[in-house]
Amino acid sequence: MLTTSERFTTERLVLRRPHLSDAEAIFEYASNPKVIHYMDYCPRTDVSEVIKSLQDKFKQWESGNFSWVLTIKPDDRPIGTIACCVEGHAADFGYLLNQKYWGQGYATEAAIVVVQWAISQPGIYRVWATCDTENLASARVLEKSGLVCEGRLRCYQVRPNISAIPRDAFMYAKVRGAG
Ligand SMILES: CC(C)(COP(=O)(O)OP(=O)(O)OC[C@H]1O[C@@H](n2cnc3c(N)ncnc32)[C@H](O)[C@@H]1OP(=O)(O)O)[C@@H](O)C(=O)NCCC(=O)NCCS
Repeated sequence: MLTTSERFTTERLVLRRPHLSDAEAIFEYASNPKVIHYMDYCPRTDVSEVIKSLQDKFKQWESGNFSWVLTIKPDDRPIGTIACCVEGHAADFGYLLNQKYWGQGYATEAAIVVVQWAISQPGIYRVWATCDTENLASARVLEKSGLVCEGRLRCYQVRPNISAIPRDAFMYAKVRGAG
């Protein structure tokens, strides 16, 4: 049985469930081509797309698709998003951050707390994430969060902002009782 958490607090951050009123702040990074470059979707062009995606996420929470916005204490404005999807004995996660806040350890701080939460849930033995093989910042976040690179997934995912040809990705994971 999962103990879901609506809110996590770290040294500098609060991770909380998003509200519809966050749409404008989320649009600020979800519309930035540099932030969305490695995603499997295109940059948002209108805030209404963010609102629709938030509404979808609200419905998905009960089925194990969790997402939280990152806020820097004491400000409540989102600077990024981290999402985690639980399926059977495994959970995968992903994240993105407003470019203004890159390079200050925020993604790692958020990933560590979400990985810790997921791996300590009864029944979850594996927490994993993939990243494009050229997304070195993301690979580093995964390493710093205690995941281990298990290998290269060839032709794993189309990144429409780069090419229509599926690209390779690294598979990172942390398993219970090991690295
Ligand atoms: C990936 C991302 C979330 C990282 O956020 P962040 O808060 O800047 O990450 P952190 O500061 O916690 O750590 C970044 C690490 O990557 C390193 N890094 C950054 N750019 C790098 C590059 N081009 N090459 C190698 N390392 C790089 C940093 O030096 C840092 O490592 P260090 O602490 O050992 O110095 C952010 O860049 C982002 O939102 N990118 C776009 C969305 C994305 O790609 N999400 C991941 C999809 S899998």
